[in-house]
Amino acid sequence: MKVLIFETEEDAKRDAAGRLLRQIQLSPTSVLGLATGGTMEAVYAHLIQMTLHQSVSWSGVTTFNLDEYWGIPSDSPASYRTYMNAHLFDHVDITRSSTHVPASNGRDPRDAAQAYEDAISAVGGIDLQLLGIGKNGHIGFNEPTSSLSSTTRIKTLTDDTRRANRRYFDRLEDVPKYALTVGIGTILSSNECLIVGTGPEKAAAVKSMIEGPVSAVCPASALQMHRNVTVVIDEQAAQDLELMDYYQHVHPAGQEVEISDV
Ligand code: PGA
Repeated sequence: MKVLIFETEEDAKRDAAGRLLRQIQLSPTSVLGLATGGTMEAVYAHLIQMTLHQSVSWSGVTTFNLDEYWGIPSDSPASYRTYMNAHLFDHVDITRSSTHVPASNGRDPRDAAQAYEDAISAVGGIDLQLLGIGKNGHIGFNEPTSSLSSTTRIKTLTDDTRRANRRYFDRLEDVPKYALTVGIGTILSSNECLIVGTGPEKAAAVKSMIEGPVSAVCPASALQMHRNVTVVIDEQAAQDLELMDYYQHVHPAGQEVEISDV
């Protein structure tokens, strides 16, 4: 894992946005895996600003979101489709039919899950998968004890996750109990992963992800098995890392260092 520790939350989020932008610049027909949540709001705000400032076109880009609540209309104010439109898609020139979010309702979630996996396969898989990390170490809605080789499926949300997402709903009772999420195996099949975590409330999960054993108890720890992962965190999220000095030595202030510069 490439561990990049930034002094501030804003620095970390700006760096993550820059990595997404560079991916599109290098490969205008990129397939991006996208995430939602509080962390990503600022990442997307930076990304929109950079896109407009550098006149980057998203017209060839395809996106697949990680997850969606199950049991609400997709145009509900709290759906992840609504979130993505508001925080990203409405502000760039992406073709709306090239943006994919798992179904939020339907007769059979198993059919919806299979259709989503098929759609990802049909475009040749994800080039760059953006991820947030939950306080409990979840990635997507793969809650602790999710199979490390899982594919897209319906999951029951933990009470902690429902409470954490209460802010998007009027009442806790309105937070759906289920979600359709790509699996950990799906995430591990992507070409490259970029995971972003900031703030002290993520410190324990970040430590388990980077330095803990690979375990279904911390789904993000499965990323230790992926060959191309960049972890972008701030100092507060990094505070429990035992090898902090090493990470900062390898990438001072989160910067990339070319071996030829050493
Ligand atoms: P957050 O969510 O960015 O709102 O903290 C991250 C997650 O739960 O994946």
